[in-house]
Amino acid sequence: MHSDLRKRATQILVDNDRGGYTVPTPRLYPYQWNWDSAFAALGFSVFDRQRAWLELETLFEGQWADGMVPHIIFRRDDPDYFPGPAIWQSGTNPPSSCHSQPPVVASIIRHLVDTGGPADREKAAALFPKVLAWHNWFHTMRDPDGNGTVAIIHPWESGRDNCPDWDIGLERIDVPEDLGRYERRDTERVDADERPTSLEYDRYLTILKFGRECRWDQREIARNGPFFMADPGIQFILLRADRDLLYLATELALEDGLEQIDRWIARSVDGCGNYWNDRIGCFCARDLRSGRFSDAMTSISMLAFYAGAGTPGQRARLVEHAHAILDRCRYGFPSWDPRNGKFESKRYWRGPVWAMVNYMIVQGLTECGETALADRIKADTLKLIEKSGFREYFDPITGEGHGGRNFTWTAAIYLMWSATEQTSQAA
Ligand code: DGY
Repeated sequence: MHSDLRKRATQILVDNDRGGYTVPTPRLYPYQWNWDSAFAALGFSVFDRQRAWLELETLFEGQWADGMVPHIIFRRDDPDYFPGPAIWQSGTNPPSSCHSQPPVVASIIRHLVDTGGPADREKAAALFPKVLAWHNWFHTMRDPDGNGTVAIIHPWESGRDNCPDWDIGLERIDVPEDLGRYERRDTERVDADERPTSLEYDRYLTILKFGRECRWDQREIARNGPFFMADPGIQFILLRADRDLLYLATELALEDGLEQIDRWIARSVDGCGNYWNDRIGCFCARDLRSGRFSDAMTSISMLAFYAGAGTPGQRARLVEHAHAILDRCRYGFPSWDPRNGKFESKRYWRGPVWAMVNYMIVQGLTECGETALADRIKADTLKLIEKSGFREYFDPITGEGHGGRNFTWTAAIYLMWSATEQTSQAA
């Protein structure tokens, strides 16, 4: 791996630092985002462990009283971004968005503990109860029936905003006449054909309107809100994070929550069955209002390995799909199956490759002994960065980079992998 790219990646993290928290990329995303910060901490851990912890600590400054950690924390009003704090109306300090995002934090903390010393264990122990409260929030507010299926109330909560997974849930949303006019800022910074459509934005804002009108009563939103879908991404990432939290509890001799985490894991393992779409032969998103499945394989379906989910037969089907998909792409792993008609190679989550998803896929595949697949996906990610720079996402067919530039999590994953390579070369 190239030392000049390593330097560049380090510089991106330093430049995107706003004094204790990191923006995903300047202008397009000018605030602190939840899972972006978790991956930023992973990147910082390579050269500044104190700063890595600070990233996680500032993220938890936005935690709500009920345990939720919001997907965006608005520390100041920035006209570059829409929808900002005035639209969300969280009523919290600091102001924030009013739903969450994939909870990768516990897994990042585990990495920091496994690679660190006593100071890291102390930091981890201090954050532990906050992470536990957040997981508890997911298992109660987003799984109100307690059947092991953790849902989302907005496509933004999945982090995979416009993935076709959400089309079946969004189609059911009628945009009200009184939604009001608004001005998007994202399409001023990035080509409109690389971003969600106007109709998708109208529907995103319709969900926000419902939330505001019930003062973000999360139980009411889960019961009667316009959108409620089971997301294999949240399911798998939370299951993995629960396992890592359990590991931390044992490792750090923290008794609190042990039994509870055990119960969550058992319930989620069972719940994964609800995502298995036998017609396609993979784990898919599901509209919990209608029971309808999404109908194609995604990069997120591959996180079953990372979560330790699925039967041997199910995993074998995923491996078959992965080979067929990678045969059609120069660079894996695409966020939507190119064999499906909804595939769009450069539109955000409807086809492009994302470095941090690849990082999790590679970790899971490696742990499960699927090393050939893992090596291909890792090598593709590095080639994409070498060819097109630290972009937000990449076209799986041409390798072109799209969306934001100098992107924090793309830089973080590059740094992480180059650090691992240096360690293994030194060994
Ligand atoms: C955006 O603004 O596109 C974000 O992805 C929402 O979190």
